[in-house]
Amino acid sequence: NGYFTYDPGFVSTAACESKITYIDGNAGILLHGGYPIEQLAEQSDYLETCYLLLYGKLPNSTEKETFVNKVRMHTMVNDQMSTFFKGFRRDAHPMAIMCGVVGALSAFYHDSLDIADEKHREISAIRLIAKMPTLAAMTYKYTIGQPFMYPQNHLSYSENFLHMMFGNPCEPSNVNPVLAKAMDTIFLLHADHEQNASTSTVRLAGSTGANPFACISAGIAALWGPSHGGANEAVLNMLEEIGDESNVDACVARAKDKNDPFRLMGFGHRVYKNFDPRAKVMKQVADEVLGELGIDDPLLKVAKRLEQIALEDPYFVEKKLYPNVDFYSGIILKAIGIPTSMFTVIFALGRTPGWIAHWSEMHASASRIGRPRQLYTGPEQRDFVKLEDRD
Ligand code: CMC
Repeated sequence: NGYFTYDPGFVSTAACESKITYIDGNAGILLHGGYPIEQLAEQSDYLETCYLLLYGKLPNSTEKETFVNKVRMHTMVNDQMSTFFKGFRRDAHPMAIMCGVVGALSAFYHDSLDIADEKHREISAIRLIAKMPTLAAMTYKYTIGQPFMYPQNHLSYSENFLHMMFGNPCEPSNVNPVLAKAMDTIFLLHADHEQNASTSTVRLAGSTGANPFACISAGIAALWGPSHGGANEAVLNMLEEIGDESNVDACVARAKDKNDPFRLMGFGHRVYKNFDPRAKVMKQVADEVLGELGIDDPLLKVAKRLEQIALEDPYFVEKKLYPNVDFYSGIILKAIGIPTSMFTVIFALGRTPGWIAHWSEMHASASRIGRPRQLYTGPEQRDFVKLEDRD
């Protein structure tokens, strides 16, 4: 009607201002607080990057120690949460459980739900970052019928996560530091990606004044889909289905067929039209992890062949479809021993600081309720027809 810009998929609409993350999709650049993702992946760590996203600067050593200690203090979840898990079927998808249990945190932390209070926002952010690994590991343990493992706060963030995932009460914890470092880098590479679908969902839910735990739960739901975070699970399923390098060409032919809805999972990105800088780091980490574990995974050969085709085939070149962050992460997670159904949970865990940083940034400045408009294409006004008079 001339009043609105019609922009399906928000391809060219900026809905907010943000200082957190900058992306130049044509140049393959991703910066958090101005720092390139490659430098953060190599020289920083996940919790330091969480601090950067939340506070807009790298911490000095005292600030870092204080922040890490605050996160440590909040790793446990209320014991009632364990009974909450028991309401789920053991074969529930882990993301289904995560949507529920993260939202349920709002039932436990009434003391810090004043979103206008900066201190309340901060404590909610720290609680979420601290408790996500605990909840994620509890989810996994529940689905395999093993007892929940308490967090061990002398361990680093990522060591602790692997301890809660793979430890058991009968044996001392034994976490491989190389795998913990890889896990930390995976979390870091996922930490934020400006206004992607799940972050926009968190902002939209947050714009109504909903509490942070409910908003992050909404973000988890949005992340679950295969076009977004669910792609890492879909990539591994696809690689397993292809099975062997000799089947790659047929799979690519399907992806190029206009009449076939099949897409190559882990390829393409709404913003990156050159390469995804996270995928480059992820590929290096994959080589390190497989080297450390001495794994010669045939799926890696399938993945490498697919990547080669995408870089050379005119269909992929013309449409600027490159491997994205989800392409290599699954191979690393599989090597670490994380089951495919948990992959998107790992993404959610890593993305939590980004979600909560955007939620917090929105509430720190004057913001309005998010309320997109539409172009109505339904029938014109008409008179109601009684049931007995309808065709
Ligand atoms: N395989 C084959 N063709 C593709 C693919 C693919 N993976 N991705 C896009 N295309 C084609 C698509 O068919 C379309 O062709 P045409 O112009 O002839 O109709 C063209 O490329 C543009 O695609 P689009 O769907 O309009 O692009 P989009 O920006 O709306 O979607 C995307 C981006 C990531 C959803 C899409 O590339 C995709 O579905 N990729 C596979 C799923 C995936 O790996 N998702 C993870 C994204 S990165 C991490 C995250 O954000 O969570």
